[in-house]
Amino acid sequence: MSNDGVNHARRRFLTVATTGVGVAGAGFVVTPFVGSWNPSAKAKAAGAPVKINISKVESGQMITEEWRGKPVYVLRRTQAMLAALDKTKETVSDPDSAKSVQPEYCKNPHRSLREEILVLVGLCTHLGCAPKNRFEVAPEDLGKDWVGGFFCPCHGSKFDLAGRVFKGVPAPFNLEVPPYRFESDDIIVIGEDHKGAA
Ligand code: FES
Repeated sequence: MSNDGVNHARRRFLTVATTGVGVAGAGFVVTPFVGSWNPSAKAKAAGAPVKINISKVESGQMITEEWRGKPVYVLRRTQAMLAALDKTKETVSDPDSAKSVQPEYCKNPHRSLREEILVLVGLCTHLGCAPKNRFEVAPEDLGKDWVGGFFCPCHGSKFDLAGRVFKGVPAPFNLEVPPYRFESDDIIVIGEDHKGAA
């Protein structure tokens, strides 16, 4: 004990001990932060957002990517395809997407953020088969009134070019639209939107 009444040996010990805790604490905080920038393969499979480059997808073309183990369809619709949505709104069972799953910002007639770009989870809402793209007009097997859409080969459900289900088929709901955002003109991030990761 010194003359000023302070135990310097004890104060030194406390200073060192506190510093040690501080470093360990900082390490503890930093590690998960760094980890969040390098999602593991397991984390990706579990649902990390997926970036899709659509620069090479031409008008009328569709690509399929994977997100959370599900197929995601990205279709660049032509003006004729968009015009076809006006015709099908009378024959689909939920034209306003009142009962289907989609983010609020895709609850519109084209069911998308950008009018021409359609993003859908490619799983039929009946029993989960992958609907086929049938974008041709009036093919023999689908009839003269067919203006293009998706056809599920398992039990014959049909969806229009916004993924809206037609009346009288087994599928009960429109195809799901996942949360997404545009990072740039050509990059779509699936599984994340303006609110953050889904
Ligand atoms: S799974 Fe698509 S119609 Fe049954």
